[in-house]
Amino acid sequence: MATIIPVASFDCVVFGATGDLTTRKLLPALYYRYKDGQIPGTSRIIGASRSEMSVEAFRERARDALKRFVPARDLDEDKLAAFLDHLDYVAVDGAGDDGWEDLAAKLAERPDQVRPYYLATSPDLYGSICRNLSAHGLIGEKSRVVLEKPIGKDLKSARAINDAVGEVFPEEQIFRIDHYLGKETVQNLLALRFANTIFERLWTADVIDHVQITVGETVGVEGRAGYYDTSGALRDMVQNHLLQLLCLMAMESPLTLDANSVRDEKLKVLRALKPITPHDVQAVTVRGQYAAGAVDGKPVQGYRADLGGEMESRTETFVALKLEVQSWRWAGVPFYIRTGKRLPQKLSEIVVQFRASPFSIFPAESFGREPNRLVIRLQPEEGIKLEVMTKDPGPGGMRLRPTNLDISFEETFKQRYPDAYERLLMDVVRGNATLFMRRDEVEVAWAWADSLLKAWADRPEPPRAYPAGSWGPTAAIALIERDGRTWHEEMH
Ligand code: BG6
Repeated sequence: MATIIPVASFDCVVFGATGDLTTRKLLPALYYRYKDGQIPGTSRIIGASRSEMSVEAFRERARDALKRFVPARDLDEDKLAAFLDHLDYVAVDGAGDDGWEDLAAKLAERPDQVRPYYLATSPDLYGSICRNLSAHGLIGEKSRVVLEKPIGKDLKSARAINDAVGEVFPEEQIFRIDHYLGKETVQNLLALRFANTIFERLWTADVIDHVQITVGETVGVEGRAGYYDTSGALRDMVQNHLLQLLCLMAMESPLTLDANSVRDEKLKVLRALKPITPHDVQAVTVRGQYAAGAVDGKPVQGYRADLGGEMESRTETFVALKLEVQSWRWAGVPFYIRTGKRLPQKLSEIVVQFRASPFSIFPAESFGREPNRLVIRLQPEEGIKLEVMTKDPGPGGMRLRPTNLDISFEETFKQRYPDAYERLLMDVVRGNATLFMRRDEVEVAWAWADSLLKAWADRPEPPRAYPAGSWGPTAAIALIERDGRTWHEEMH
């Protein structure tokens, strides 16, 4: 196992310290980094929220959170107690004036620490928190601000947030999180493409027939109906996570792995995405909303019931799109992407379907199906599979069938796969923004999403219902089958 290098000593102030993200993701991620010896002794994690609470009470909450969200086998009582000693708390009103002096006094105790401010709050508060940080002299060279999504709900609101934050933080100190970029296999996509010669040469329209990106979830809207109903799958998943995956898949080789080189290349892909117009919205998009059904063998109610009583809603919980990247490399190669809640499986994968060979010397009946497919599995069972045609063993003529060259990361590396937030939090402390989104990327992605949202808003029909536990409306199957292609799970 590679040596884990400690980062510089830091004071990480987490606004929204009693919220869901802090409880489920940030505290467990920091605990693991501590356990691995990556967090130096003088570092502090300072919870900040409006609730009046003692440091002890905050530590107790954190202990409960870790017990819930870290598997018992990874919770070592001594380590846990030592980690909790790094936690501190201050009551601060992000929207108002209270508590800022207390925070300033706490931070002044260790003026030389790296200072990430993690805004795990509603984006409405980003502007006022940043203004307060600046007004209290809390921003210096070693400060960084971390913004959670959603960064706005359209281009206009995203710009307003970016302007407000940009008034007090220079762009290099702003870390916009897209946690998909912190997933190990997503980074592996960079390794696969740019540390091997065999794939990159084939990464062109001459050889690739099409690409599929699927991010399926079995969960519904859980406790987030209020947020989700004003968002929907396009804003919640496509504008950020799926487009970022598409960028890493489609971008040219960056000059180096430095933040701006990588982000420049991703930006070019976003700029090359063909906008979806009212004219083609029917042909290349499908919106769905889950109805009652069954997931994992258990009956579940529909989206409208999840909103709390059969409420009217045109919010989409499923999206399938056929996208075009208008560039020399990708001309004529469709990117089919889809995501949804209440699908049969939690599954994220990228499938690269290579073209059939130009001429076959084998009898037609010897072929099972389309040859050569590369499947990059992001979750679960992370790994990479290359399907190659092989001869079926034994007599009986030349019968061909696809066989997998299969790398399962779990079996190969035999170690725990760190959660995306672990990597990203440490990158913030290091000041490495490669896996974070730059302002222009977020805004270009919104401009593209806005045109689709507008085209949908002008359509009279609501999203199509699909039963929970299915792969979305049948129209999503038709979207790809019209082109003589099939979604990956249907191929087996
Ligand atoms: C979040 C979305 O960004 O990503 C959620 O807001 C979604 O709706 C989540 O459930 C999916 O993340 P993961 O890592 O579980 O695939």
